[in-house]
Amino acid sequence: MPFPALHKYRAALLGSFFLIIATLFCAPHAQGQAAKDQAALVEQGRYLAVAADCMACHTVPKDGQPFAGGYGIDSPLGRIYSTNITPSKSAGIGNYTEQQFARALREGVRADGARLYPAMPYTSYTLLSDDDVHALYTYFMVGVKPVDTVAPQTALPFPFSVRASMMAWNMLFLDNKRFTAVSDQQQINRGAYLTNALAHCSACHTPRNALMAEDNSKAFGGAPLGSWYAPNITSDPVSGIGGWSDQELAQYLQTGHVRGKNQAAGGMAEAVQNSLQFLSKEDTAAIVAYLKTTKPIRDAADVKPAHEYGQPKSAEASLRGAVGPNETHSLNSGAVLYSAYCASCHQANGGGSGNQAYPSLFRNTATGSANRANLISTILYGVERKVGDQDVLMPRFDSQSYVNPLTDEQIAAISNHVLQQYGSPGAPVTAQDVAVARDGGSKPMLARMQPYIVPLICLVAALIPLGLLGLSIKRRRRK
Ligand code: HEC
Ligand code: HEC
Ligand code: HEC
Repeated sequence: MPFPALHKYRAALLGSFFLIIATLFCAPHAQGQAAKDQAALVEQGRYLAVAADCMACHTVPKDGQPFAGGYGIDSPLGRIYSTNITPSKSAGIGNYTEQQFARALREGVRADGARLYPAMPYTSYTLLSDDDVHALYTYFMVGVKPVDTVAPQTALPFPFSVRASMMAWNMLFLDNKRFTAVSDQQQINRGAYLTNALAHCSACHTPRNALMAEDNSKAFGGAPLGSWYAPNITSDPVSGIGGWSDQELAQYLQTGHVRGKNQAAGGMAEAVQNSLQFLSKEDTAAIVAYLKTTKPIRDAADVKPAHEYGQPKSAEASLRGAVGPNETHSLNSGAVLYSAYCASCHQANGGGSGNQAYPSLFRNTATGSANRANLISTILYGVERKVGDQDVLMPRFDSQSYVNPLTDEQIAAISNHVLQQYGSPGAPVTAQDVAVARDGGSKPMLARMQPYIVPLICLVAALIPLGLLGLSIKRRRRK
């Protein structure tokens, strides 16, 4: 036989033959499958980026290119510019490996090794799973259009300009761990993951300590946010959201508007507009289920929920025959100012419009809360929110107002009128309160200390040699 062993290989040859045919047939299918997997991964990453609200900080509002950065975040320590996170190789993160991307997200370290400021919420994103980081990376590399515009550089005052100082801060406050289950119920775990890892609700609603790290012993207990206030959203029925129904909470996250409770303005309006309204029904329900399980925090001064204060009341009768509201010298009492600038929408009795598109000012947490910040800031900055194709708009009354800029005294007078008529009793609003809110809110201690840090360091530096000198003299004497 010329090929004595051929029959021995017949099976193998046949096998290879079938394999080749199979490969020829299936390769396009496999390729198609790979493309489908990739598309699904990009879509998953896109949804995660929405839930994590990367857009809010990494895009200049209104006319900025998506994810091209350059948005100036006014932190109490100075303005921090978000960076370009499009896949541009010259201006963005096009050269980031997945590992470097994961490190930026979960540890706050840039590809070049420099530390990021915690204005980038890596203390929340640190909980992200490997799978989700992979999907986010794929989306940013494949699904986002590269933009070659370099974002402006951040230049904080010394000593915050030293990025390496964040290493010490991270050692104290970054718990570099992935998410672990908090409950044996799947829905509550999903809610905890969304709330804590992705949506970083705590970045606004959890108070911060003297070094500006979130104080987890008071998680979701309410915190100042520039001139606004992110209220207590723990499960407490008096100080928190324990008295809200699940349905109301879900509606608030999806639309920012719940009759008889609150309307989202400021940072919450941005969170709803850019992120929360796009979550699936299941994910919204999961967040609500989790919020209802959070540890309740009660403010001892609160006697009833903020949304239970007030009833309709009109001061119009007392104004009849008084000077016309358009004569500026008459605009000095809260009642007259309210009549001139607020009643057209919120009605003379504060009850708002029939469909509540102009909401009631009683049974509203902005007026019922002992913290007056959201009432003052609403008057100063108005309300602006786009949900679906609906624009919600209340005009602002600060110096940029197209209606009429109001003074600190006038805004304090309106606030006190609104509080007396419709809100909770307690400390009145002063013109000084309004001035502080106009200036971006009161500064935390670390920011107030900034001017003294350099002299302090010099003082300590001068004292150390003096101390050493003293020590050596002592020693010499002992000898
Ligand atoms: C609350 C605002 C905020 C959100 C939300 C946010 N970022 Fe950032 N991010 C920043 C800021 C500010 C910086 C720059 C910080 C600095 O310069 O130290 C930054 C920096 C980064 C960097 C480093 C880029 C570089 O090389 O400079 C990456 C990567 C990044 N962000 C990705 C993301 C992704 C992905 C998301 C969503 C999952 C996200 N960020 C959400 C504010 C934010
Ligand atoms: C960028 C900051 C920011 C983020 C992020 C944020 N919030 Fe808020 N939130 C606020 C502010 C500010 C208010 C007050 C809004 C107002 O009264 O106009 C608020 C109000 C609320 C209220 C109404 C409370 C009340 O008593 O009226 C709820 C509920 C709420 N937020 C839940 C959440 C949840 C859940 C998340 C995360 C999924 C979240 N927020 C993320 C800033 C934020
Ligand atoms: C042109 C109509 C209009 C005028 C004038 C107006 N508002 Fe509003 N106001 C609105 C709208 C719209 C909302 C938000 C509704 C929503 O979010 O769904 C709102 C919301 C509010 C809220 C709730 C905000 C929050 O954070 O919860 C308060 C408080 C308020 N207005 C007070 C005032 C006061 C005080 C004045 C007068 C200085 C005034 N408004 C003038 C339309 C108006």
